[in-house]
Amino acid sequence: MSQDKPIDVVSRELRGDILFVTVNNPPVNALGVEVRRGLVAAIDAADADPAVQAVLILGAGRNFIAGADIREFGKPPLAPYLPDVCNRIEACTKPVVAAIHGAALGGGLEIALAAHYRLAAPDAKLGLPEVLLGLMPGAGGTQRTPRLIGAKAALELMLSARQMGAQEAHSLGVVDRLVPEGDLLAHGLDYVRELLAVRAPVRRTRDAQALTDREANRAAIEAARVDVARKSAGLFSPGKIVEAVAVALEQPFDEGLRIERQLFLQCLDSPQRAGLIHAFMADREVLKAPETRAAKPRAIAHVGVVGGGTMGAGIAVAVLDAGLPVTMIERDEAALARGRAYVDKVYSGMVAKGRMSSDAKDSLMARLAGSTSYDALAAADLVVEAVFEDMAVKKAVFAELDRVCKPGAVLATNTSYLDIDEIAASVSRPGDVLGLHFFSPANIMKLLEIVVPARVSADVVATGFELAKKLKKVPVRAGVCDGFIGNRILAVYRQAADHMVEDGASPYQIDSALRAFGYPMGPFQVSDLAGGDIGWATRKRKAATRDPKARYVQIADRICERGWFGQKTGRGYYLYPQGARTGVPDPEVEAIIDAERVRAGITPRSLSGEEILRRYLAAMINEGANVVQQGIALRPLDVDVVFMYGYGFPRHRGGPMKYADTLGLPQVLADIREFAQQDPLFWQASPLLVDLVERGADFGSLNQAE
Ligand code: 3HC
Ligand code: NAI
Repeated sequence: MSQDKPIDVVSRELRGDILFVTVNNPPVNALGVEVRRGLVAAIDAADADPAVQAVLILGAGRNFIAGADIREFGKPPLAPYLPDVCNRIEACTKPVVAAIHGAALGGGLEIALAAHYRLAAPDAKLGLPEVLLGLMPGAGGTQRTPRLIGAKAALELMLSARQMGAQEAHSLGVVDRLVPEGDLLAHGLDYVRELLAVRAPVRRTRDAQALTDREANRAAIEAARVDVARKSAGLFSPGKIVEAVAVALEQPFDEGLRIERQLFLQCLDSPQRAGLIHAFMADREVLKAPETRAAKPRAIAHVGVVGGGTMGAGIAVAVLDAGLPVTMIERDEAALARGRAYVDKVYSGMVAKGRMSSDAKDSLMARLAGSTSYDALAAADLVVEAVFEDMAVKKAVFAELDRVCKPGAVLATNTSYLDIDEIAASVSRPGDVLGLHFFSPANIMKLLEIVVPARVSADVVATGFELAKKLKKVPVRAGVCDGFIGNRILAVYRQAADHMVEDGASPYQIDSALRAFGYPMGPFQVSDLAGGDIGWATRKRKAATRDPKARYVQIADRICERGWFGQKTGRGYYLYPQGARTGVPDPEVEAIIDAERVRAGITPRSLSGEEILRRYLAAMINEGANVVQQGIALRPLDVDVVFMYGYGFPRHRGGPMKYADTLGLPQVLADIREFAQQDPLFWQASPLLVDLVERGADFGSLNQAE
């Protein structure tokens, strides 16, 4: 972490006969090497000093301890190791009490479990979320937790990664005492004094007895094994967690710790750990755009949405969910009623599923106002336009917004492809115009591209990030270009997929290869879900400006010409008999593909799943490099976040740019050059990729965080 860290990351203070040990390692008291050393020294001192009767461990600031220091993973480990620190605490001959407030996560909870008694403040959040980082608890957590609360509860905690509140931790037996809000130090002192008064013994979790019912615990482990095979296929660490808990049941504690360490190191070495920790860091780095550092956001208390179609209604739901009032503008009363009905349908669905009360729905709907007059937007602090994807229509809407909105209102467009600089230039206040590119369904999808036109003010961009925070979205800063970050790159690798179909792969084979890679769906399934008509309209719009020398595969057009737009029409690339949600391969589509190959004079060849992946991902990575080089994305990690949150890229691979680093950039470049022999116009290596390979560098070197 920071270079100028104070030496005293673990401070000691003797109050009467109790040694207060405070971890003070901002921002979250992670267990870096200095903290580990400090804790061991404190326990050694407590054991050695006859004046000390008990130890109280606390965290300074907002948290107890958030876990191991994630930034140390992947680097050579430094002693003392965390398991040894925990063992040293547990072995202390005087009672050790952990006073927990805020986060006690991962290694932080393991420290608390190694203490002999635990108390928790009302804001405590306890959990073992290592699995989210491709890891497993590695400092005794897989051995102490089941001994304390049984295999079933321990496995549930570790596999779900969820955080428990103080109450639940108390009823489960993870903490011994709940204390009220307020002075944790005083509450801690009271509790330790109470323990000393009754001569409470040193009570070690390694000796706890929750695994004595062997049958029940064995059954819980078996059930978890089945569950992991079903739900976490392809992930490495969940299986290791189950394995470690099975060892806890069968082996003595010390042997369990030894095996836990081995399994932990396997997880640590796995590319999934590298991918998931990259994703964790990238989630936080995307928030740090130049404008969010430079400017304060404007206040947002009231949001306007223009257009109540698929996106406008979804955006309205997202804003209502965040607790803000929304005013929706539509062309006429009928369209407004449809927009309102759309929003109503989302909430009715939740009421029907028991996820929301009808009272809660009523109060949400009460915050939705609608009008066919733009004057209703006079009080809005931020307006998102989501009307038809047509420059003339957008400009007409922005002229109205320019007329009615108060000074300082943010005027945002949800356009997918149009030139936002041109929209901004059409109003009298271009500094207030921003792109807010939501993804469909807008109330569900986490990604929000914050598209930054040339003339926008920094505080307007910061307001976009602030809105994302309120809506619990993941914001990524993007520059203006055709398709911004995500759709621009998508257009390229979708073409690579279409080329492969014309060359001999079936769409079903491509989808299957991508699912095997970790995508929830392949590109042709996604096309059927989203509706083939959208891409068809875009292709027709761009037909006039397409390079006549570029390869153009017409298969999608042949399918759309038949009115086969995907799920909504009962067939697309797949057949959806009787409204089925999962499609089945369609021989007629295969016949169309055959005919198109003949028309294009192509003799089909077979492509392996591996070649499909190489081509698909090389196209994605190469365009990702172009997007970074042109400043459309700030860093490679911004591309990664876009693909993980907007396009289903498997998180454990860390996004396409991180994945490229895992493959090795020379390999990616060699692939592109090999493919270029067949189609040099399509496969042009990105200058950034070439440069990085020449310098022996990787995309990670361009991410400030790494
Ligand atoms: N190590 C190093 N840095 C950490 C960290 C950790 N464990 N946890 C958080 N940070 C850093 C973040 O990167 C961020 O840095 P930045 O300011 O430079 O961007 C800063 O701390 C603040 O983090 P958040 O923005 O996430 O702050 P919040 O207040 O929103 O959340 C939190 C705090 C709930 C603690 C959240 O950060 C979190 O969930 N952290 C990860 C917890 C975790 O996964 N622990 C397990 C680690 S693995 C382990 O312990 C292995 C062991 O079993 C051997
Ligand atoms: P849609 O066709 O479902 O909805 C558009 C709505 O705008 C219609 O209800 C229409 O009545 C209304 N409208 C048209 N002109 C208007 C005007 N002058 N004043 C008020 N309302 C008007 O379209 P959709 O899919 O919601 O797309 C809207 C915008 O969002 C487009 O720019 C699109 O490119 C973009 N977008 C679409 C995504 C998608 O997956 N559908 C994803 C991300 C962005």
